[in-house]
Amino acid sequence: MKTILRIDASARVDRSLSRDLADRFVQEWKRLRGDKDSWIVRDVGTCPPPFVSQAFIAAAFTQVSDRTSEKSAILETSDELIAEVKKADMIVLSTAMYNYGVPAALKAWFDMVIRVDETFSFDLKRGNKPLRPIQSGKVLVLLTSAGEFGFSQNGFNQGSNHLVPHIRTMSYLLGVEAVHHIGIEYQEFGDERHEWSKSKARDAVVELANTLVHGTAVKN
Ligand SMILES: Cc1cc2nc3c(=O)[nH]c(=O)nc-3n(C[C@H](O)[C@H](O)[C@H](O)COP(=O)(O)O)c2cc1C
Repeated sequence: MKTILRIDASARVDRSLSRDLADRFVQEWKRLRGDKDSWIVRDVGTCPPPFVSQAFIAAAFTQVSDRTSEKSAILETSDELIAEVKKADMIVLSTAMYNYGVPAALKAWFDMVIRVDETFSFDLKRGNKPLRPIQSGKVLVLLTSAGEFGFSQNGFNQGSNHLVPHIRTMSYLLGVEAVHHIGIEYQEFGDERHEWSKSKARDAVVELANTLVHGTAVKN
């Protein structure tokens, strides 16, 4: 049995292309594996986590043994979200591109779950790379949609893609070691290129579910 954490970050619920990719991935996964797995679902797009505050930082950087009940209460949402990440073998994350990066609600989620001594450790003895993830071996299935295009490697908009590289960097601190990204582009053009992009991505999510279930996926 695997534990799979599904996170959806688009603010759109109706006609969301990224949510639709996640639905298709989950449907294919369940077709192949039935009820073998345990699922946790977090809709941060419609129910965004709180932002980091001064009180949150003070509580997170206080040793557990020294935390007052007030400080512990401030960390409750973060604790709950971190517990879900810790349980997960695989994270299925669907997200829109907003202003060339992650939706604020998704950034809020990452800010709640990337926490010192919970998901990463910090040690200056490690030199220039003091942060290290505590967990390992997680797989991230990253499903995105963008209005423009050319965001992939060597694409003319690659330099404006602050979505996928940012998610890769952040998810490393959660113990993600393999990222599988599938994205739709051209949504704002609504032309045949968009239709092609949608159809290619929809086929790719089905193929990815099969590859992951049969254990032959290549890490990238
Ligand atoms: C607030 C907002 C900001 C957006 N910013 C960008 C952007 O910077 N670049 C881009 O290519 N598309 C942008 N888009 C288009 C979305 O990425 C596109 O509509 C995508 O399909 C949204 O995902 P969804 O269909 O899952 O909601 C933006 C859309 C919205 C609503």
